[in-house]
Amino acid sequence: MKNAQWPETPAEQRRSAEMPAQPDGAFPEDAHITVTNLTMGYGDLILMRDLHFTVNRGDVFAIMGGSGCGKSTLLRILVGLKAPHHGTVAYGHTDFWAQRAVDRKRMMRNLGVMYQNGALWSSMTLAENVGLPLRLHTDCSADEIREIVRFKLALVGLDGFEARFPSQLSGGMRKRAGLARALALDPEILFFDEPSAGLDPVSAKQLDDLILEINRSLDATIVIVTHELASIFAIASNAIFLDAATHTAGGQGAPRKLLDTSENPNLIQFLTRGEPIQRPKGRS
Ligand SMILES: Nc1ncnc2c1ncn2[C@@H]1O[C@H](COP(=O)(O)OP(=O)(O)O)[C@@H](O)[C@H]1O
Ligand SMILES: [Mg+2]
Repeated sequence: MKNAQWPETPAEQRRSAEMPAQPDGAFPEDAHITVTNLTMGYGDLILMRDLHFTVNRGDVFAIMGGSGCGKSTLLRILVGLKAPHHGTVAYGHTDFWAQRAVDRKRMMRNLGVMYQNGALWSSMTLAENVGLPLRLHTDCSADEIREIVRFKLALVGLDGFEARFPSQLSGGMRKRAGLARALALDPEILFFDEPSAGLDPVSAKQLDDLILEINRSLDATIVIVTHELASIFAIASNAIFLDAATHTAGGQGAPRKLLDTSENPNLIQFLTRGEPIQRPKGRS
């Protein structure tokens, strides 16, 4: 049963329209990222063990959980910045961490990452910031780079801001500039770590809308680390909950479905901020 408070997200609507569910509720095989038996941590500190999940092509996939449970660590493993203790991360059929470093680096160019605060260089203009990955990783000429940068900045609503420095922008604009830079190399998958952290609710909503628009118009798969409930219910078509209490996944699926059906009190508490919930009749 649908939860009236949280209507279907656009990604979910598209998925239901384009890809009818199988009898068991699963969707046709369309895996973009497959994580298998993953254990992660720092030395003897084990944050999560036995993670299994799939990010489908076109998903807006949320990695959710309380502060310190290991969301950013998981993201760093997915994008190639940190190795897992055990387990595999596959992009399509390619085992990411089994690749030679040079091949993994090549794969990483296909992954766009937007960090908190946009992580822009303060001494560079927006055009220089967004153009940086193109200068580092492509043979594009200065003119081509200028064109691509203009296009990417326009995509995030920052056309005309090429010559500005990050300090001359609002927080929301800096995040969008960071997104333009993450888009510079036309990645197939975009990763966001707490994109709306530090933004006022209106700017946060605008950023959510932009993320959805990019998911839709560029056909990008999106992985987003967040503990913002409004974002989770507004944009995520699929999610995994990292349960700090058990150090393993405490539920996965569409957020509203989890809210309706999960029996995990930690997950329910997370999704309701501890408020009691009304379940449809017939379920406990
Ligand atoms: N480089 C590091 N070395 C050791 N421990 C770390 C490191 N980075 C993070 N941690 C620990 O791992 C835990 C999870 O961190 P993180 O993945 O950033 O959590 P989240 O993003 O969910 O808030 C934190 O409690 C932190 O103490
Ligand atoms: Mg984090």
